[in-house]
Amino acid sequence: MADRDKLWGGRFSQPTDRFVEEFTASVQFDRRLAPYDIQGSIAHARMLRKIGVLDEEECRAIIDGLQQILDEIEGGEFQWSVALEDVHMNIEARLTELIGEAGKKLHTARSRNDQVATDLRLWLREEIGHILAELERLQSALLDLAEAEAETIMPGFTHLQVAQPVTFGHHMLAWFEMLQRDRERLLDCRRRVNVMPLGAAALAGTTFPIDRFYTAELLGFDRPAANSLDAVSDRDFAIEFSAAAALLMMHLSRFSEELVLWTSAQFAFVELPDAFCTGSSIMPQKKNPDVPELVRGKSGRVFGHLTGLLTLMKAQPLAYNKDNQEDKEPLFDCVDTVKDCLRAFADMMPHVRPDRERMYQAARQGFATATDLADYLVRKGVPFRDAHEIVGKAVQAALARRCDLADLPLEELRAFSPVIDEDVYRILTLEGSVAARDHYGATAPHQVRRAVEEARTRLRQSA
Ligand code: ARG
Repeated sequence: MADRDKLWGGRFSQPTDRFVEEFTASVQFDRRLAPYDIQGSIAHARMLRKIGVLDEEECRAIIDGLQQILDEIEGGEFQWSVALEDVHMNIEARLTELIGEAGKKLHTARSRNDQVATDLRLWLREEIGHILAELERLQSALLDLAEAEAETIMPGFTHLQVAQPVTFGHHMLAWFEMLQRDRERLLDCRRRVNVMPLGAAALAGTTFPIDRFYTAELLGFDRPAANSLDAVSDRDFAIEFSAAAALLMMHLSRFSEELVLWTSAQFAFVELPDAFCTGSSIMPQKKNPDVPELVRGKSGRVFGHLTGLLTLMKAQPLAYNKDNQEDKEPLFDCVDTVKDCLRAFADMMPHVRPDRERMYQAARQGFATATDLADYLVRKGVPFRDAHEIVGKAVQAALARRCDLADLPLEELRAFSPVIDEDVYRILTLEGSVAARDHYGATAPHQVRRAVEEARTRLRQSA
């Protein structure tokens, strides 16, 4: 393309350096915004018609032309040009090619600065919707699993050492809660995304009597941005989304870590469906938990994008700077990564099978009911610190005999404290231990069932 054909070519007498043209272009990646650019342009044209800048015929021609361009793009026929720099100028140039003079009027009272910020917000608003939908599928799968396994006993860990028995359902509900907070963060973030920059023009607003409230309404924005300088320059909405995405990925990564541990031969707590694992090219026995491993690994790129976007923004004076063109690739990758990871997890979780027997046996090791014995002594009048000491001694004895606390004969237990009676064996069982933690937020099976009900309601209310 000759430089005089560039949409901003008027004040230039020398052509752009070829490498600089490539270097400064964004169309290679921002073409992804095309449907939102067109949506924004249609609303802008309607508003220009409303205030009399465009006549009916021009407005019609612009809308029809833009719709044809969208068809061309979706059909893969659109000729993208790096010389036209970005998605906005590619579409505008094509519009003028298609409809002539009227096409040149579309950019009245607008700048690419408010245009790109608007496109990005329209796009992100929609993507957050897709992410929330995938998240809901995963959360529902966790609730189904929690309900089905409300009585399934497993060891609960602190320091990755057996601590106290818990129910598998309770453990799944812990994951649900983390993801529910991620859901709330995304919903909250979307409220701040859904504000319209259009009308800020380059930075100061425009001399035309535009109706920004009308355009905002057409585009489904909650309101126009209150300050034009802020509207074209800040990308905090993208950073905020990336922060929410980073937290979500951190949760999925922890979740992945547990699945990787749990599928190892040493734990063998769960089995992942074959469809979500791969084998080894050399070791025939292997079934590797690739999906969780990859999700754990992918968390790193989202954390990196968050840092990248913060760094991109931090030294920019008002208002728009070309630096901001660099917001797109990290943001796109955050969205794609989160969406793919959620999808893989949402597809996988309904097929995850816990091995109840394995987990039960694992909970029997490591003196998981030691705290129950201490609490028992307290109920019989022993101060807690003394009870702790007494149980420590009993654990030592059991260790020496290589047996569980529940396997020590009554006389032996009574040697540690005379308040111990036959009824101690009931509280030393795993079932007794989990059933005894019977209050809001705890692990008893019927509390888990109640928590599942409550969680279903909260999920519905935040859908
Ligand atoms: N491609 C640019 C971006 O992504 C669009 C806005 C360009 N504005 C400008 N004044 N050069 O930020």
